[in-house]
Amino acid sequence: MTTQADTMEKIVALCRRRGFIFGSSEIYGGIGGFWDYGPLGTELKRNIKEAWWNDMVRNPPVGPNGTEFQMVGVDCSIIMNPKVWEASGHVGGFSDPMVACRAEGCKRLFRDDKVFLVGFIPVGDDPQREEAFEEIQQLREQDPTKARALARQAELNDPPVYLAVEADSEESAKIEISYDSLSNTQKRRITPPFQHVAYPLSRKPSGWGPPPCPACGTRGSLTEPRQFNLMLQTHIGALQDVASLAYLRPETAQGIFANFKNVIDTSRVKLPLGIAQIGKAFRNEINPRNYTFRSREFEQYEIEFFCHPSEAPMWYEFWRDVRHKWYVDLGLQSEKLRLREHEGDELAHYAKSCADVEYDFPFGLSELEGIANRTDFDLKAHIEKSGKDLSYFDDQRKERYVPYVIEPSGGVDRSVLAFITEAYTVDENRASPELMMFHPRLSPIKAAVFPLVAKDGLPEIAEPIYREVKKRFPCQYDAKQSIGKRYARMDEAGTPFCFTIDGQTKEDGTVTVRDRNDASQIRIDKSRCVEYLHDKLSL
Ligand code: GAP
Repeated sequence: MTTQADTMEKIVALCRRRGFIFGSSEIYGGIGGFWDYGPLGTELKRNIKEAWWNDMVRNPPVGPNGTEFQMVGVDCSIIMNPKVWEASGHVGGFSDPMVACRAEGCKRLFRDDKVFLVGFIPVGDDPQREEAFEEIQQLREQDPTKARALARQAELNDPPVYLAVEADSEESAKIEISYDSLSNTQKRRITPPFQHVAYPLSRKPSGWGPPPCPACGTRGSLTEPRQFNLMLQTHIGALQDVASLAYLRPETAQGIFANFKNVIDTSRVKLPLGIAQIGKAFRNEINPRNYTFRSREFEQYEIEFFCHPSEAPMWYEFWRDVRHKWYVDLGLQSEKLRLREHEGDELAHYAKSCADVEYDFPFGLSELEGIANRTDFDLKAHIEKSGKDLSYFDDQRKERYVPYVIEPSGGVDRSVLAFITEAYTVDENRASPELMMFHPRLSPIKAAVFPLVAKDGLPEIAEPIYREVKKRFPCQYDAKQSIGKRYARMDEAGTPFCFTIDGQTKEDGTVTVRDRNDASQIRIDKSRCVEYLHDKLSL
């Protein structure tokens, strides 16, 4: 049986083998939380960013009730005046709770809210066992000896077998620690039927005893949580002191807020207005995990959409739906993609509403993008700290106000990982069963041109076709190895079409077109290759 973990391992192996993603500085043993994109990965990532820029900035959808609005871009520096991060609240509050393992030889650090206890509670649908279990829970604090005796009598393992794991949610914790993943000794301690449960460390059920370390398993070795600021620091200039301290930006958003007035004053734009940016962000994540999903250096695509406060709820709903649809249109199946509205107690203090676009990765449902109504929080914070007037005069309403902001904020690298995961397909009927079914807009290579053999005048026909195609579409030429192996390589790269020049081409001028999705083949005139791609890819 193929588990989700096996699928993830296979995706990682294919990405490494075919040059989508490498560990950063691998020749020196790598560095945790940093990744490099190889030739195919670089093209894929560029295509995703270009699709975003084109669909959101250059040609955004029409707004609610047919409203046209303007979108413009900025490209801000990674290092900004540290006062920006004081105003935004990042210096004071951009931190995660951290716990450490005290055990000799381990000393690992974990994000407190990403450690889960996964247990196997010895109740199923047997009411008697359930009743006995409930009684034991109540007795455990008052009379542990009696609780133990009752557990022995009812043949219940109590406290239940439980382990600790790092995960993003209770659901992914249960995927990581399933019954099947337990050792035989652990399985022997669980009397079926059982209930598979997961709790965050902070909500450990009473009576479960000290939590184990997720890495070394030592019980009671974890410290109490303490706050750890995630901003990566550096120094500007020759002296390394408090005055030269600066930060690598943890989000691209603040560059947009700091430039709001510059854009308004120089660009003949009116509200409602979106300012967009794609760029690197850095976070000193306590424990980067799940391949590229949680990295220390990553790219974001963010829009800060400035509007009149009364229209913010309307624009929030608009952007939430637009962003969800964008992922679906580029091939993320709707059932794996979820739009989840935040509950009131989940909202950041400055946000009025927020929704996450989540994708069901092999390691569980996880956030790709957040869409938030950030109100006037950021602009007001910068007005106060900088002393500059960042309000806007609306000449249609004849009113001056500090705009509200709707922020769709996505992670480019997380999107790359989601599109790779979605595209990864196993077709056992093929000689080489792994292929990447990318949406044609995202495919790193759109077509390949192959002479069936590298002789008999076939390369002389194939090369001019290749030169024509590559003027319009990213294309590769390959004359080596068997044709089956060449198709398999292109399937793994996610190339939608391959043109093969064979003996018949010399007779009637036709070439074979092979479709990646079903491996079907048809013949077309060799002069129609570009036109064929144009029709089929609709790019
Ligand atoms: N300006 C708002 C903001 O930065 P966020 O939820 O902290 O909000 C936005 O980040 C997006 O950036 C996330 O939805 C995610 O896609 C991406 N992201 C955040 N931390 C990341 C990390 N450590 N590695 C990769 N992507 C990350």
